[in-house]
Amino acid sequence: MKTYLTGIQATGMPHLGNLLGAIKPAIDFANSKNDSQRFLYFIADYHALTSVRDPQKFSDDTYQVAATWMALGLNTENAIFYKQSDIPEIFELAWILSCHTPKGDLNRAHSYKAKRQANEENGKNDLDHGVNAGLFNYPVLMASDILLFDTNIVPVGKDQVQHIEIARSMAQRINQYYGPTLVEPQESLSGSGQYIPGLDGRKMSKSYGNDIPLFVPEKRLKKLINKIKTDSREPHEPKDVKDSLIFELYSCFANEDEKKSLAKRYEEGISWGEAKATLFEKVNDYLVEPREKFNHLMENRSLIDKELKLGAQKAREISSEVLKRIKKNILNF
Ligand code: ADP
Ligand code: TRP
Repeated sequence: MKTYLTGIQATGMPHLGNLLGAIKPAIDFANSKNDSQRFLYFIADYHALTSVRDPQKFSDDTYQVAATWMALGLNTENAIFYKQSDIPEIFELAWILSCHTPKGDLNRAHSYKAKRQANEENGKNDLDHGVNAGLFNYPVLMASDILLFDTNIVPVGKDQVQHIEIARSMAQRINQYYGPTLVEPQESLSGSGQYIPGLDGRKMSKSYGNDIPLFVPEKRLKKLINKIKTDSREPHEPKDVKDSLIFELYSCFANEDEKKSLAKRYEEGISWGEAKATLFEKVNDYLVEPREKFNHLMENRSLIDKELKLGAQKAREISSEVLKRIKKNILNF
């Protein structure tokens, strides 16, 4: 049995880049699973607590992310879907792990180092300014998420690879000291590895403010698509699909025939307005049904609670057994 596990931090509404780069591939992967695979997808809500300070936002973000996965077709028969805060064993293991982790390993974690560097560049005397202990311990909690489920493979984006390496070295250290206790996880780069561009051509990201959120109303979606950067070529002038953001985004949703047909219209001198309208139709068609489901779930949050509760029950059947084994080996409990 191979266990695949990944966590999704809840910070605002997911966008088209998240959809194509992470959520869709993960759902397709789980929905085509075979008998020797087990999938766990969870919302890392307590990880978000390192930065969120607004109780309403904290809970809304969690619901939004859960509703997104459900609306896009995650079948919870194929993947155990839960939220981190429902699994108390994670936090117990996190303490055990932190007592076996050299502080230096955490000093070297990219996100902590980036914070210190930003403080240095901003002339702060205290390089740990604005760093809470939760942020510093982020990799320990993440290792606990992973190791508690005997995870073999962790599908993640490039930026998370160091965290998996830290988890692996924790498992190795504990296994060396106490004998075989923890499964040593491997990362697997999720999605196509290619970034979906945002409205300005850079990587689509919430932090750049160039994203197209998945479930905004149709009108807003149209407005956002109209903001995509184009060059100054006039209607009727032939256009090149190669450096067209509109065409790149269209290609993510269209089949080969549709792409060929739009490419032909580019050669014939489609206006940017028409090209944007064509893209809007395509993206909107894709999102109409999920948007309805998403809105329904957000208005009936008990449906989300129900799924997450069921998922937590299934997850705890695994985590309580694994924690028992760990405590026996490490604490003689
Ligand atoms: P953001 O940059 O908007 O904060 P996150 O870092 O929360 O997005 O990303 C969540 C997941 O979505 C990650 O697995 C990441 O690899 C993927 N992802 C984010 N932006 C893109 C993008 N523009 N193209 C492809 N995948 C993306
Ligand atoms: N740190 C991950 C991110 O920001 C989210 C995460 C938390 C995670 N725990 C995890 C990912 C465990 C994979 C496995 O994207």
